[in-house]
Amino acid sequence: MTEKLWGGRFSQPTDKFVEEFTASIQFDQRLYRYDIQGSIAHCQMLAKQGIIGVDEADTIVTGLREILAEIERGEFEFSIAREDIHMNVEARLIEKIGPVGGKLHTARSRNDQVAVDVRLYLRDEVDAIRTALGKLRQALLGQAEGNLDVIMPGYTHLQTAQPILFAHHMLAYVEMFARDAGRLQDLRARLNVLPLGAGALAGTTFPIDREWVAQQLGFDGVTRNSLDSVSDRDFAIEFCGFASILMMHLSRLAEELVLWSSADFAFIDLSDGFCTGSSIMPQKKNPDVPELVRGKTGRVYGNLISLLTLMKSLPLAYNKDMQEDKEPLFDTIDTVRGSLKVFAEMIAQMTVNASNMRNAAARGFSTATDVADYLVRKGLPFRQAHEVVGKTVRYCVETGKEIPELTLEEFRQFSKKIEADIFAAVTLEASVNARQATGGTARIAVEQEIARARQTLG
Ligand code: ARG
Repeated sequence: MTEKLWGGRFSQPTDKFVEEFTASIQFDQRLYRYDIQGSIAHCQMLAKQGIIGVDEADTIVTGLREILAEIERGEFEFSIAREDIHMNVEARLIEKIGPVGGKLHTARSRNDQVAVDVRLYLRDEVDAIRTALGKLRQALLGQAEGNLDVIMPGYTHLQTAQPILFAHHMLAYVEMFARDAGRLQDLRARLNVLPLGAGALAGTTFPIDREWVAQQLGFDGVTRNSLDSVSDRDFAIEFCGFASILMMHLSRLAEELVLWSSADFAFIDLSDGFCTGSSIMPQKKNPDVPELVRGKTGRVYGNLISLLTLMKSLPLAYNKDMQEDKEPLFDTIDTVRGSLKVFAEMIAQMTVNASNMRNAAARGFSTATDVADYLVRKGLPFRQAHEVVGKTVRYCVETGKEIPELTLEEFRQFSKKIEADIFAAVTLEASVNARQATGGTARIAVEQEIARARQTLG
């Protein structure tokens, strides 16, 4: 009974199982540093405002710092009976410094406390993830720069479409991850406001200084409505939305790496450190890392749906349901951090089989569009050119030839506009380098985008 900080109203102890069932300390203990950081700022504000004595505040702050050290040394005993991180720290504080420790919770509730803890924690994680995203983009850029001559088939419907630079393909992912970084920056701005001061739901009767606390904790401002402050979890949902899109991007890259490292494509080699063998088939080198990241995308989507469903139809303000926000959020953070870390390394170490890519690009009539464009330049409307080249390709299929292997006479069966300069138009290099408009695969355009991406990455 006496263990409970809220025990006053109760005449019977909590059922043991209920105690465990309702506790969150098993998972919210990871918030300890932020809980203490928030408490220190709150306590110093209470003293500054004359709500508690300066000496009292000093004693409390010293006690909190000691608790932080205890936790970091692994000496702190987290207790289920003390329910969550907030009451574990506070109860320990009172244990250490006596009843004065009970003054810390003046003008505060666990409802605004948990909101500030999670915002502080997530803010740090957001910054770490932004850095990790930067490293992944660096790795992709490194591959682009190191393989500027490599031509591969570009696909639509996974059918050979047109030759592209491998670097261009890498840059497509750089773009995706740059948008992800942008989303992270956007959500950080909405996340970075102080909810403390909302109290349980209606505000506080004490003359607190929220703006000062906000400044101490590095927030850009304070929340504007106490009810919303304690019941808003948009920041967690937004983060999981960001994470879902990021994982979707990673899963697409993962899928391509799995395909490309197969014996049938043989476009790339993943370094041994990122693959595993088979217990029965000695020849196997399985791309486990991309497969796992592809798979983990599912749990991140699931976490987003969990949070949205958790918050759906909840009446204002705080509801205990909201304690369930932590595990999906934490799991998302862990999954994203792990996936980014392993991908950045794996991409940096990946090797490219340039000749296999090139050979594949030379198959599948990949320069058919270039023949059509050639005819357009000679005055034929594109639709007619398309028809001419369609017939040419059919002839190639029947005779087992690729487009550049046709003789001029063979070409001219389909259009008299075709002349000897056709051969220069249907090489892989000509095809790639003809696409010079911004965002195209021509080497000059790709080099320009690499420089641009390098600049934004700093
Ligand atoms: N452990 C709680 C949570 O994570 C902290 C807030 C509890 N507030 C309350 N009134 N029971 O949501």
